[in-house]
Amino acid sequence: MLRIRVLHGPNLNLLGTREQSIYGTLSLDALDSAITKLAEELAVKVDLRQSNSEGDLVTWIQEARTRYDGIIINPAAYTHSSIAIRDAIAAAGLPTIEVHLSNIHQREEFRHRSYIAGVALGQISGFGPTGYLLALRGLHDHLSASQGQKKTTPSATSRRAEKGTR
Ligand code: DQA
Repeated sequence: MLRIRVLHGPNLNLLGTREQSIYGTLSLDALDSAITKLAEELAVKVDLRQSNSEGDLVTWIQEARTRYDGIIINPAAYTHSSIAIRDAIAAAGLPTIEVHLSNIHQREEFRHRSYIAGVALGQISGFGPTGYLLALRGLHDHLSASQGQKKTTPSATSRRAEKGTR
């Protein structure tokens, strides 16, 4: 079974009440439920987390290296500032999809630059909550195809087995 870690960055705990004209009215709980439902349909195990702290996000990305097959992350404002999150994603070496609810390229200039995009498999921006579902389908298809092709590439499950961890 594929395992995907889904990370929400700072202020996303306020979804549903925060700047509704930009981010909509869906709460983070409701968004997580929609992701979990699709994950069940795709037979993917998802682990969903939110933090306002850069360090938490870095730690969770590092942990994912041996425990997960891929990452979906909305780094929120850290997208535009965090070399630490970029480096963690590069170090983890897992296929990672960057998601933004809003279209960051249509907004203020300081949101146009992403430190994450250069180390991500892809970026989905501007589709609201649906962007996470697109990311989940996309990552599922990418991982299924690459695991089917490269039987020699160890999955998170076999990497865990090799290291004697679970
Ligand atoms: C965001 C866009 C970021 O620029 C912003 O700082 C956020 C949310 C989005 O999902 O559209 O907090 O990542």
